[in-house]
Amino acid sequence: STSEPCDFVLFGTNGDLARRKLLPSLYQLEKAELIHPDTTIIGVARQETSVDDYIDSVRDNIEKFSGAEVCEETWARLKARLDYVKVDMRDEASYSAFKEHVNPDRIMVCYLATPPSIYGDICRGLNAAGVIDPSVRVVLEKPIGHDLASSCVINEQVAEFFDEKQIYRIDHYLGKETVLNLIALRFANSIFATNWDHNCIDHVQVSVAESVGIEGRWGYFDEAGQMRDMVQNHLLQVLSLIAMEPPTTLDADSIRDEKLKVLKALRPINASNYQQSTVRGQYINGFVKGQEVPGYLEEPDANTESRTETFVALKVEIDNWRWAGVPFYLRTGKRLPTKVSEIVIYFKRQPHNLFGDSFANLPPNKLVIRLQPDEGVEITVMNKVPGLQSSGSMDLQKSKLNLSFSEAFSDERIADAYEKLLLEVMRGNQALFVRRDEIEQAWKWVDSILAAWDGSNEPPEPYQAGTWGPVASIGLLAREDRSWYESR
Ligand code: BG6
Repeated sequence: STSEPCDFVLFGTNGDLARRKLLPSLYQLEKAELIHPDTTIIGVARQETSVDDYIDSVRDNIEKFSGAEVCEETWARLKARLDYVKVDMRDEASYSAFKEHVNPDRIMVCYLATPPSIYGDICRGLNAAGVIDPSVRVVLEKPIGHDLASSCVINEQVAEFFDEKQIYRIDHYLGKETVLNLIALRFANSIFATNWDHNCIDHVQVSVAESVGIEGRWGYFDEAGQMRDMVQNHLLQVLSLIAMEPPTTLDADSIRDEKLKVLKALRPINASNYQQSTVRGQYINGFVKGQEVPGYLEEPDANTESRTETFVALKVEIDNWRWAGVPFYLRTGKRLPTKVSEIVIYFKRQPHNLFGDSFANLPPNKLVIRLQPDEGVEITVMNKVPGLQSSGSMDLQKSKLNLSFSEAFSDERIADAYEKLLLEVMRGNQALFVRRDEIEQAWKWVDSILAAWDGSNEPPEPYQAGTWGPVASIGLLAREDRSWYESR
């Protein structure tokens, strides 16, 4: 269905996120005719720019970032919706001009693609202009805070003016097709639904690897590190979807209640146990895809003393009935050999071996959910090798049942996560957005690990760019007779 008519206001329209992701996504939604014909799109930034110049800049962005030639018919429709208004976002008085650009009879969606430090100012400015009412929706980008305390401050500033029902916190992983597909896989298939617990599953691995470094974002990244940049949000959200109990419906709060329970059941990692459960790394120079790249401390603008981690591996335990004794191993890092995100569910081994000494260690079945790239789902199974072996023996071979999205759904374009999320905001559905209690619970858990690291005085372990992280991350699994899944 299309969306409701609204005034879609993009605060920070000249910033990186808006230019790379949000404007190209709006263009794709326009192309798919999913934006209501009466919706307007209003860019807001502090630069003095005419609407015509703004429109030209939007066109340039779309040409640059949407990866295909611009469709003129689509562009004509999108262009007709565009408006621009200059606002000095920290100055309440400057919001009066803004008021003239929105229609009080329509839903207003305010997308805050700005640094979170000014979310409070923007809310106050909107309030001063008298444009806040219960129909307004506000969209918040990460990072929402640096730790639990600062996250509470930001959430409080916004809560002063908006009810939780009006707040859409983005975690773009929740907009990815393959992440959403986790819900379908688990709850639309009895073979998974009935085998999804400690009785059948040995352990779970989640890997989110990136080959890029920090891409000129030293200032931001060095303050954050991989734990805050990726684990606190994306990995914990994915983990929650894998581990949650069946929600009663697909309603926003049914799903979010279940995710929250998982976050609350995460066993704390602190000074007493971090050494057994965590590994952090920092890349040194090396080769990624044949290209020589500098180490983290040699990046432009680097503080050469930095101890910020660019790699994290964790052993996570969920203290509830379903997952008792089933570790979840997470790893994520920059400058790994390739960009790949995948979930691997390792099922338990067979209790008894029928097949003789050479098959004494039958590999377990694995369900591999490839989030990106090459989206798909794969199951490894053991098969008999065809042939006339003697009746008392059998040759076995591991094979794959493989569903590739690009083959199975070759007529469908896989939408970018932001397209899905923008559309859901325009439809007023909060299911794919993170509730305040989830964010705060995630921070609480992450803060304890960060405090243990800080207190330890140990630097992160170096790993060569283009490798799978520090050797200790292999040890994290090897200690328990397991190893990281190697897809390629
Ligand atoms: C962002 C992080 O949230 O996610 C980036 O800030 C990271 O550092 C990005 O590169 C990864 O997203 P994706 O969709 O490319 O996996």
